[in-house]
Amino acid sequence: MSQYTARAHTNIALLKYWGKTDTNLIIPTTTSISLTLNEFYTDTTVWFDEQLTADDITLNNVSLQGRGYEKVTRFMDLVRDRANQHQFVHVHSINHVPTAAGLASSASAFAALAGAASAAAGLSLEPADLSRLARRGSGSASRSIFGGFAQWDRGHDDQTSVAHALTETVDWPIQLLTLIVNDQPKKIDSRGGMQNARANSPFYQQWVDMANAQVPAMQAAINNHDLVALGTLAEANALQMHAQNMVANPPFTYLTDVSWLIIETVKALRATGIPVYATMDAGPNVKLISQPADTEKIMVALRKVLPEIQVTVATPGPGIQIVQGDRI
Ligand code: ADP
Ligand code: DP6
Ligand code: CO
Repeated sequence: MSQYTARAHTNIALLKYWGKTDTNLIIPTTTSISLTLNEFYTDTTVWFDEQLTADDITLNNVSLQGRGYEKVTRFMDLVRDRANQHQFVHVHSINHVPTAAGLASSASAFAALAGAASAAAGLSLEPADLSRLARRGSGSASRSIFGGFAQWDRGHDDQTSVAHALTETVDWPIQLLTLIVNDQPKKIDSRGGMQNARANSPFYQQWVDMANAQVPAMQAAINNHDLVALGTLAEANALQMHAQNMVANPPFTYLTDVSWLIIETVKALRATGIPVYATMDAGPNVKLISQPADTEKIMVALRKVLPEIQVTVATPGPGIQIVQGDRI
């Protein structure tokens, strides 16, 4: 049996996915648009083994247990059914991104798993099919199949809910300064958080209508290389998403005082004429949409209020890569 390794990079949504209409198929309530990053990624190696009596799944060289194990083994069942391959499997994965911290580890993880598992099972999937498969593991993974800017059309069933590349090669200056506020696993995972918001926010339908209506403007900002329009819309969309959590009953939030301090610093920087915008996912970490030429000025302002903050400069990254043989 062949062994395959896939590398997939994380992606950060500029227009977020925050809620499902179908929790089994993972059909989202909104169309989302993202940027795949060069910095944070997952390498996953998969091979089937007739000697095994259960799936052997490790993450960062530690055996996965409980819910984390279930998610992978159920995902593998989809692949096994499709390939008519019913052996158990070794899945060894290394995250070059903090796990479950709101830095999109589930996106790189399930994109890499979709790539490596489908290849190891002898399935030869087109990018759109890989995207549909990755979606079943984690919705945001559907977008990490592609490099650069990608759009996940919400669709209405397994076939129509799929991502595609908007621009795979990004040849204009845009970066995401990733500020690590806390790299530890969150208390409420993305899956639970979005379920809460959808079930318990009185404004949820407004979020859905507003976010879906933002898609053409985001596409235009990307096409026009318009950092100001892109950043303004992305920041508004992120805050609208987080507002759903804050008005849910009971309320909750992923943002901490440090996240808000960063958001205030970003506003102050903008008042001095620097185009810099904040976006946050299901975690306290903040990503600053900005241009490389302004990195120094942004860092100086941040260091004044947060001298110790850890920063990674992320630029647009590639789509999934699959190799046969050893990688990890
Ligand atoms: P994040 O913000 O990191 O995407 P999520 O709550 O969406 O956080 O997903 C985190 C979960 O994704 C983990 O608890 C684990 O179940 C799963 N996960 C992350 N990385 C891997 C991996 N490399 N292999 C298998 N499962 C993973
Ligand atoms: C805030 O894709 O991690 O990052 O589909 O339940 O696995 P599941 O959730 P996930 O949710 C991502 C939420 C987000 C926004 C986004 O990436 O679009
Ligand atoms: Co996730």
